[in-house]
Amino acid sequence: MLEIVKKFPEQVEEAMKMDIEFSVKGIKSIAVAGMGGSAISADIIKHFSKLPFFVIRDYKIPSFLNEYTLFIAISYSGNTEETLTCYKKAKRICKTFAITSGGKLSEMEENKLLIPKNMQPRAAIAYLLFPLAKFLAKNNLLYNIDLEETLYILKSNKEQMQYAAEKIANSIEGIPLIYGYGVMASIAKRWRQQLNENAKMTAFDFSLPECNHNELEAWERNGKDFTCIFLRNKDEDEKIKKRFEFMKEVYGKVIEVFSIGKNDFAKAIYLLHIGDLVSVYKAAIDGVEAEPVDLIAKLKKFLTQHSRSSS
Ligand code: PA5
Repeated sequence: MLEIVKKFPEQVEEAMKMDIEFSVKGIKSIAVAGMGGSAISADIIKHFSKLPFFVIRDYKIPSFLNEYTLFIAISYSGNTEETLTCYKKAKRICKTFAITSGGKLSEMEENKLLIPKNMQPRAAIAYLLFPLAKFLAKNNLLYNIDLEETLYILKSNKEQMQYAAEKIANSIEGIPLIYGYGVMASIAKRWRQQLNENAKMTAFDFSLPECNHNELEAWERNGKDFTCIFLRNKDEDEKIKKRFEFMKEVYGKVIEVFSIGKNDFAKAIYLLHIGDLVSVYKAAIDGVEAEPVDLIAKLKKFLTQHSRSSS
């Protein structure tokens, strides 16, 4: 897994060459259904959307979706139960599109982007994120994303990112708690998911300023069992800067990770990649295999067998 994650900059370069051909004429909102490693790309893109943008991780679709909604089903395998259930419902109402490597979703949807097969979904983030971001940007549906700067930062800081990630992985003690503001809150979620799936460890993510209204209070009692990771921008809003400074005084062990770059999307992807690397280094340090997700696979099998026997 480490070798695959290290290839992220090359994967991004390849993914940026992929084109989505699809008309978005008359679209007034965007809804993306997906789960886990497939849904996170939508979580990131939503921060840049000019249109109302909804991420659906459920069996149900919101009742406000209509014929002006572009509904995108993202499932790496193309077989994820929740995503397929939403897709079938949305197909009757919305304009649909799919991003997948195959499976049932690919069989059902003719408007689709087929991405490379035989990867772990979470390791295919370059293909799940960049063609969609490029497509939406080309259609003037996103604010200010600079894909060229993103690629430049990833390619020109490879060793520096690996070094930083290894150091962070070695410094994590106890349960990691990851904090971010704005798009960095979605990157914090990605860090948490990657630590869960690759390092097989409990982790939690929090977004500012909301966590200052609840989670903060837990530090009256929280001890040494956590490592707090703050995902920050050097040019962040003064109000957010003050909050982080306060938290630093109150919280236990804190590691601050600062983005580089000018563009917010580029900054986010830089920190995303560091987080992905941290999770695989942490897996290696703890002697666990990053690639297999046996319990997730077992649950999916159980649900399939159960739905067959109950139908
Ligand atoms: O990263 C993973 O393996 C999971 O989080 C999957 O992405 C999740 O279970 C959904 O599967 P898929 O991406 O195939 O729709």
